[in-house]
Amino acid sequence: MNRQALLLGWAALLLIAVWALALPQPALAHGSTGGASASDIRSLFAIVFFMSIPVFLLVEGLLLFSVVRYRRRRADELPDQVEGHRPLEMTWTVASFVIVLILFGLTAYALQTDYKVKADRNDGSPDLTVNVEGYMFNWDYEYFIGEETETGVQTTRRLTIPSDRNVLLKITSRDVQHSFWVPSLAGKVDAVPGYNNTMWLNVDEPGVYTGNCAEFCGANHWEMMIDVEVLEPTAFDLWLQDRQAELSEFVPMGTDMDTPLPAGDAARGGELFHSTDLNCAACHGAQDGAGPAAGSLAEDAAHMEGYDSADEYLRESILMPCAYETPGYNCNMMPDDYGTKLDAQGLADIIEYLTSLETE
Ligand code: CUA
Repeated sequence: MNRQALLLGWAALLLIAVWALALPQPALAHGSTGGASASDIRSLFAIVFFMSIPVFLLVEGLLLFSVVRYRRRRADELPDQVEGHRPLEMTWTVASFVIVLILFGLTAYALQTDYKVKADRNDGSPDLTVNVEGYMFNWDYEYFIGEETETGVQTTRRLTIPSDRNVLLKITSRDVQHSFWVPSLAGKVDAVPGYNNTMWLNVDEPGVYTGNCAEFCGANHWEMMIDVEVLEPTAFDLWLQDRQAELSEFVPMGTDMDTPLPAGDAARGGELFHSTDLNCAACHGAQDGAGPAAGSLAEDAAHMEGYDSADEYLRESILMPCAYETPGYNCNMMPDDYGTKLDAQGLADIIEYLTSLETE
């Protein structure tokens, strides 16, 4: 029986060792790098991992050796009682301390490069600055040339940046704590209300890098995805120009309740409603969620007292969610800046879409 247990123990340890060796290989083999901070983190991980292998084998080996060599052989046997071994104890205490010191130094170095791009260590000024604001449950981005020159360009959910340039992200939150995390680009940075945390990026490879909010922030935390689109510098400049050109034609609704709306297009409204930009469907899905179900909104609006029409109520609810709070729901859960993201046509389209759901 004892022998069986011993064999089992050996087998289990062997399995753990094989698993530990096999597991991180894909992560290490993954050569593509998003930029300075990501590759620093990757090499730190590799160093820690390979330092831990001999430590693991030594400790587990000694443990196994002692278990086998000094096991009790007779029922009434009392093993030798050993007091200790001062030189040995000093050795492993000092050795552990040295290892921890090395790891501390390497970690402090990797942390520091998070805040200052390696490629441009002597010149800490960014080519592009983006204010990143998290909120339940999406991300807004505001673009600045250099550090302060406004472009007026804003995006939601998808962050577009140039490769091969220094990009500074100033990360904050509008409501609760979130965490901005795109694993291939950099480590997690918390988004804390009333405070700016920074992340420096200098991405080598153009492409789309995905990430997500890494701080549990409410019912739709899982929905708080991040797309980082990295364009060649010239393509990025064109993209920024195009966005600025569009901007001059876009007249946001704000909290305007008076201007008559144009005729809405339900199909286009449906696209807007389900777009990740506006993210309406995340809370207003087929069933009641963080907000009432999409299909019930227009019907509820039709029975609302104190409004001239269902359209008027829907318009107010979209532009000013807390003007009237639907019982059973927290109006603060809904972003109150849809007026900055919708023009009259977009608003009319969404109202038309919601109305078309009711009559289906
Ligand atoms: Cu935001 Cu989780």
